[in-house]
Amino acid sequence: MLNKKNKKIKPLKPGLIGVFDSGLGGLTVFSHILKTLPNYNYIYLGDNARLPYGEKSAETIYEYSRQAATFLFEKGCNLIIVACNTASAQALKKLQTKFLPINFPDKRILGVIRPLAEEFAKKNHKIIGIIGTKATINSGAYQTEINHLAPQLKIEQKSTPLLVPLIEEGWLKKPETKMILKKYLRPLKTKQVDALILGCTHYPFLLSSIKQIMGKKIAVPDPGVVIANSLKNYLDRHPELNIQKTKNSKINYYTTDNPEYFKKLGEKFLGQKIINIKQVDISEL
Ligand code: DGL
Repeated sequence: MLNKKNKKIKPLKPGLIGVFDSGLGGLTVFSHILKTLPNYNYIYLGDNARLPYGEKSAETIYEYSRQAATFLFEKGCNLIIVACNTASAQALKKLQTKFLPINFPDKRILGVIRPLAEEFAKKNHKIIGIIGTKATINSGAYQTEINHLAPQLKIEQKSTPLLVPLIEEGWLKKPETKMILKKYLRPLKTKQVDALILGCTHYPFLLSSIKQIMGKKIAVPDPGVVIANSLKNYLDRHPELNIQKTKNSKINYYTTDNPEYFKKLGEKFLGQKIINIKQVDISEL
């Protein structure tokens, strides 16, 4: 194989796909990846011990994400999907431009913001609403990506930090959750957004309530579907990553906290059984 300067480069050894999130939320994305791309081997890492990322500083989020990426690459992944919106917003650029070229120059890390921005930019929307954690919204990452592709699009953002704990508590149908959701979404409704980005791994669980509040005319796609399709496309275009197909797909799960908790709640998030789960300490990497 030759690189751009026509120099011979060593092909990558066959590798896996790694999916990383601050905890269980990334399983909402992973479930769609598994449906769209069932014939691959995967490693999922949830940094449950240090969740939530959404309230942390950019430096801390980068450091945690760097450790997670190191772990997944050392375990044999050739490609990592950062399923966490907060880590994608606050750490991905630096991982791609500073960490990767020095440490794993032939491997790749992708996030969730670019595929969603591309999806929304190509439709005929006028005003796009975005909800996410404080760190995601404060980064302005979605706005930057979308306006890079479609400068005419207006963006209205709102951080909605109470939603993650309510969802993790299983309070999906409680009137308190609906009340908080309504309050969060009201300013976006008033601004007449015609599409809404669910900029956090957990929010697909509130999809029906969100649609109810925002009305039928507003487009609210499930991010997992968009991200999985974009990944399929990426894999087709990048055979050099040497991510091999298999008939007997194997998934290894790792969590930085209690594996029993991960399994119990994780199976609800993923919609299927979780086996092969281990606790791991990545804090020294
Ligand atoms: N996974 C995070 C995200 O998508 C939500 C949970 C957290 O704050 O760590 O932004």
